[in-house]
Amino acid sequence: MPKKYVIANFKMNKVDKDVKFYIEQLLPKVKDVTSQVVLAVPSVSIKTAVKETKGSGVVIASQNINENGFGAFTGEINAEMVSNVGAGAVIIGHSERRSYFNETDASINKKIQKALKAGLMCVFCFGESVYDKKNNLTESALTTQITGALNNIYGNELGHIVFAYEPVWAIGTGVVATNAVIEKTLKLIRKIICNLYDEKVANEVSIVYGGSVNESNIKDIAKIANLNGVLVGGASLDPVKFSAISEAFGKTVPKK
Ligand code: PGA
Repeated sequence: MPKKYVIANFKMNKVDKDVKFYIEQLLPKVKDVTSQVVLAVPSVSIKTAVKETKGSGVVIASQNINENGFGAFTGEINAEMVSNVGAGAVIIGHSERRSYFNETDASINKKIQKALKAGLMCVFCFGESVYDKKNNLTESALTTQITGALNNIYGNELGHIVFAYEPVWAIGTGVVATNAVIEKTLKLIRKIICNLYDEKVANEVSIVYGGSVNESNIKDIAKIANLNGVLVGGASLDPVKFSAISEAFGKTVPKK
């Protein structure tokens, strides 16, 4: 069975003690879920989150890294730093970073290379804007973003990348993409990856959906064949809602 991921993106929310409290609340609720739970916490709380989730199977992620190694980049954090404090993953190329912090496909590509080198799993985000959607430009937007991000990345490294399809018009808007749109886009993403590598690589990549996922619409979204999970922003901030979302991808049945 392909692996499923349920990824929380706290964005710029929760001080350290709230991250600790959240994890205390969440862990008993997700102990039987079959999907890989990932929590992308603010970087100042990575250490706390790693400590609090030790032995639980939950993976802690950074929400960003700088594309450089060590050096004079005041205020920045690199892949080795987040890996060294125990993070296992990093979100790269989120639409908020692309629009507010001028991230480009080229810088995203460098970040992915650095993250892979540091042994981090990459949650690579991409998606079309409202403009792209209205003007029938989804295919070209996704092709540009995916092709740019994967420059100089080998096919055998794609197992360490989770492709997060996040249409910009669905992020934080309450407008979730329909299953038909997600299914159609999953095929498109695999076609783009197939053109860059081959069919085997394209069929094996993990693709998750993000954008206004919540505890109600997850039941429908989880029915999509070939979808490897979800990336959740707003609804991930509440451990009750986030555990309900995690459960939608299955729970182990306790032995009698
Ligand atoms: P949302 O955010 O679930 O609040 O729409 C998703 C994301 O930005 O990753």
